[in-house]
Amino acid sequence: MADPRRELAGLLADRFQDAGELDTSFATEAHVRMAAHASIRTWADRPLPTGMLETLAAIALSSPTKSDMQSRDIVLVTDPARRAGLAPLIAPDAWIAAAPALLVFCGNHRRQRQVSEWRGVPFANDHLDWFFNAAVDASIVLGSFIVAAEAAGLGCCPISQIRNRAQAVSEFLELPERVFPVAGLAVGWPGAPGPITPRLPLSLTLHADRYRDEGEAATRATIDGYDHWRHQRQPYARQRRVRDLGVAPFYGWSEDKARQYSVPERADFGAYVRGRGFRLD
Ligand SMILES: Cc1cc2nc3c(=O)[nH]c(=O)nc-3n(C[C@H](O)[C@H](O)[C@H](O)COP(=O)(O)O)c2cc1C
Repeated sequence: MADPRRELAGLLADRFQDAGELDTSFATEAHVRMAAHASIRTWADRPLPTGMLETLAAIALSSPTKSDMQSRDIVLVTDPARRAGLAPLIAPDAWIAAAPALLVFCGNHRRQRQVSEWRGVPFANDHLDWFFNAAVDASIVLGSFIVAAEAAGLGCCPISQIRNRAQAVSEFLELPERVFPVAGLAVGWPGAPGPITPRLPLSLTLHADRYRDEGEAATRATIDGYDHWRHQRQPYARQRRVRDLGVAPFYGWSEDKARQYSVPERADFGAYVRGRGFRLD
């Protein structure tokens, strides 16, 4: 078996241009698997074993949860007819329709309000914090599910597009008041391994003892460097919004992200969340 310390060092060097100093002496196979994460959008023609998703969900739901409130749920959509109904509400992408399972990770603030009412105790926290708590709890479970599924050899891809038509998805899934989708997750056996997608350098995203802002010029130079480093490894296959913004002579991560958010996306999400019964003040 390969040495996990060397494997981990290799994977982190593929992911971060400044991984050279990282200590991997404690590495186990579990760390290697986590560092090898790649989102999967192609599926092998192989059924998921009965009960596997339920067990993975139970593992994911074992994650830490804010104040032990457990304000998150998972909806497993595996029935072919239900998947066929849900997929087009998320997005027209073929890989979503083809996924053997679609999971929906939901924030759930309904139970907290119910227990307050059932115990005859006023709920004195009707403000943004409870939307945030439920969204964070759901996100933690999403991340844990991915780790657990990848450890079992499955491939996954989270889907924020599920919030593009949040109201339609909520009606389809019959989500009650104060329950909302945070993200979808396509799950299946991978059709092919995914590439290791480079991340921003640790010098920018990992801070020691206090936040270190190197100033705009230095940060910009670091991001330019990342753009070029990443381009050598994994160039973008296509440019976004060429009709409006033209063809960029160099198209890196920062150009892609700037273009991605040059058009409004889910501008109605706040209204949807308020309509679900949340106050966001
Ligand atoms: C919360 C969340 C939502 C995401 N939504 C989508 C999505 O709607 N469509 C998609 O193709 N990928 C989606 N992704 C996957 C990201 O694009 C992917 O994680 C990122 O490009 C990095 O690639 P990697 O996961 O292979 O390292 C999402 C990821 C997260 C964490």
